[in-house]
Amino acid sequence: MSAHFDTIIAGGTVVTAGDSIRCDIGIRGGRVAALGLDLGTADRTVDATGKLVMPGGIDSHVHIAQPSGDGIVMADDFESATRSAALGGTTTVLPFVLQEKGRPLRETVNAYHALAEGACHIDTSFHLIISEPNEAVLGQQLPALVEDGYTSFKIFMTYEGLALNDREILEVLDTARNCGALVMVHCESYDAIRFMTEKLEKAGRTAPKHHATSRPKLVEREATHRAIAHAELVDVPIMIVHVSNREAIEQIRWAQQRGMKVLAETCTQYLVLTEADLDGLGMEGAKYVCSPPPRDRDSQEACWDGLRDGVFNVFSSDHCPFRYEDAEGKLNPKAKSSFRWVPNGIPGVGARLAVLFSEGVKKGRISAEQFVALTATNHARTYGLYPRKGTIAVGSDADIAIWDPEKRLTLTHEHIRDGADYTPYAGLDITGWPVLTMVRGTVVVEDGALVGPKGHGVYLPRERSPYAAKVAS
Ligand code: URP
Ligand code: ZN
Ligand code: ZN
Repeated sequence: MSAHFDTIIAGGTVVTAGDSIRCDIGIRGGRVAALGLDLGTADRTVDATGKLVMPGGIDSHVHIAQPSGDGIVMADDFESATRSAALGGTTTVLPFVLQEKGRPLRETVNAYHALAEGACHIDTSFHLIISEPNEAVLGQQLPALVEDGYTSFKIFMTYEGLALNDREILEVLDTARNCGALVMVHCESYDAIRFMTEKLEKAGRTAPKHHATSRPKLVEREATHRAIAHAELVDVPIMIVHVSNREAIEQIRWAQQRGMKVLAETCTQYLVLTEADLDGLGMEGAKYVCSPPPRDRDSQEACWDGLRDGVFNVFSSDHCPFRYEDAEGKLNPKAKSSFRWVPNGIPGVGARLAVLFSEGVKKGRISAEQFVALTATNHARTYGLYPRKGTIAVGSDADIAIWDPEKRLTLTHEHIRDGADYTPYAGLDITGWPVLTMVRGTVVVEDGALVGPKGHGVYLPRERSPYAAKVAS
């Protein structure tokens, strides 16, 4: 008996983390209902002949509408960030809720929900950022939120007002161990960066390029090793985020080879940008100020090696957008006086997939299956969304991006359309682009146009990460 579906995607090559096969997809009620050939009839049949049909991207490291210091405003709200993500083939993002000191964490979580509710084009789920790990937070507030599906949180070893000291890091890791949460660690040493910054400023070396001088590779390498040692002491898995260079990778590889559960992430900027980008005319370098900073060609090669051989299990954008020509953004009144005042972070949620596909798959550095693993499946697995998200399998949400693997373009901000006024990846020649993005069976982007219903995205409470499954009760 022939079946009827809401949608059939016909004629394409379906790529998952495991393999690539010529097959059609039958979608019903927002989920994948059948895979095979000659599936039956449908209200709509999408012709994917010559195209790659892949799980929609999951970007597990994005910052949206996050308070960023006096007079500084992030360029994206939930509408504009998820619009850009959808245009670039991403169907789920995991933004951060930044703990406000002195305020119950739950209140801040609710405030972010209020911002996201009804605004998102794609699905979302929140990580937390812990800035004040006091007894009430670690003893009650955090464990209760983990129970409710906020199963991962980020801590910082740098940034004024956010950096935790070693004792605090150990306490947070211990709490995570007890409640089965996964901790993401930003590994750069606060004191070393302060020391360098003050020396550079005294010497009048204040241009944006000195942001990179102030936080050299060794500052990241040392903090990476320290975070790993703390995790070993507490006996808990960690995720080292936005890894930029060979020296830090060596620390992670060393830990992994000793059997430690140290996971790692790298990002778009570490594959295609370098420190030289921070050395633009006038303040142009501010467009590339992020932490850790982009490094050099050798670091890029090391990141590619890590993506290929599994040191990294996720590839994210660390989308953190500030407008350039804006007194509340990169060119705020204090920015000219020192790189210290240039807000850290660059936009990337819309460009992430195309850059990795073009530079990785099309240039033969990684396979299409590795692309899917690194951009979708491993994010879902790591952060407790699998198998609902991150794959194309019967029963999974029909979150799908159809890619034209031969489409060529030179990247401009017009392709990205986030809330910033530039993309750091402008001018990059790209081969391969998503021509249709579908979230839970609903087409949200087709041929570069947003076509989905407003506010289609839903919030996703998450299971615990399988890496951090509860070890004590
Ligand atoms: O420069 C960056 N990466 N800004 C975003 C915040 C963070 O550290 O991830
Ligand atoms: Zn960070
Ligand atoms: Zn970040």
